Amino acid sequence: MLIVTERDLLPTRQPRPRTYLMCPPEHYVVEYAINPWMDTTTPVDTALAVKQWDGLRQTMVDLGHTVHVLNPEAGLPDMVFAANGAFVVDGVAYGAKFRYPQRADEAAGHRAFYEAREDYRFVAPTQINEGEGDFAYLPDAHGGIALAGYGFRTEPAAHAEAAEALGRPVISLKLVDPRFYHLDVALAALDDENVTYFPGAFSEASQRVLAQLFPNAVIADEADALAFALNLVSDGRNVVINTESAAFGEKVAAAGYHPVMVELGELKKGGGSIKCCIAELRD
Ligand code: ARG
Repeated sequence: MLIVTERDLLPTRQPRPRTYLMCPPEHYVVEYAINPWMDTTTPVDTALAVKQWDGLRQTMVDLGHTVHVLNPEAGLPDMVFAANGAFVVDGVAYGAKFRYPQRADEAAGHRAFYEAREDYRFVAPTQINEGEGDFAYLPDAHGGIALAGYGFRTEPAAHAEAAEALGRPVISLKLVDPRFYHLDVALAALDDENVTYFPGAFSEASQRVLAQLFPNAVIADEADALAFALNLVSDGRNVVINTESAAFGEKVAAAGYHPVMVELGELKKGGGSIKCCIAELRD
């Protein structure tokens, strides 16, 4: 007798090879606090952070992806959060302009990376925005749309600037909970057309926008969000999440994805996790 379980009826999720940019946490410490997760009195084990980061880099390589590495710079401890340096769609890199002076100089390293490569066109920003920290891209949703967060870091004016730079619709979403100060700790693309998010991180109006655009979204709860489960990187099948997010891993597995767990606890002290460490370079 053939037994068909609910899981057999799920669509087969196909991975797509990706190109990523990461920056090792060689100079990572928590010596200033610009988000509620940072506590300057908590010691950081930089060597352990480097080891965990390398485990993440190796995981992405083992999954078949290309990982470029950006040179870390002394005095820029948050440079490990490479997702904040730009937002890249169709080979156009819309550069970051950081909200806080402590991180301002990171932008130049990212700019130099793109300007040194012929396959990317760099667009300098005039408005404050923190790259993929506050932007996500869904190539197959509604013909290709970007989602953009505001409320804590990125200015809404940067959403319009990004739409002009990229020639894509940009949907503005208002973040309302300071613990979820970037879009990428509140929402993530699971594949080319669907997302997962924690509704409580968004204004009621933005929750309605998300429900309209993504009726099949995987809904996360507050515990998932607090574990930084949503700060994930997915290739369409493999959903890389931190080891604190086991309960969330079951949710994405129930939706047909394959959770891959990576330990990244040292980076949480800076207010980041998997996605913060990985910028996606979309050619
Ligand atoms: N300490 C960094 C900051 O507050 C963390 C950035 C996390 N990155 C991210 N993509 N959410 O700016």
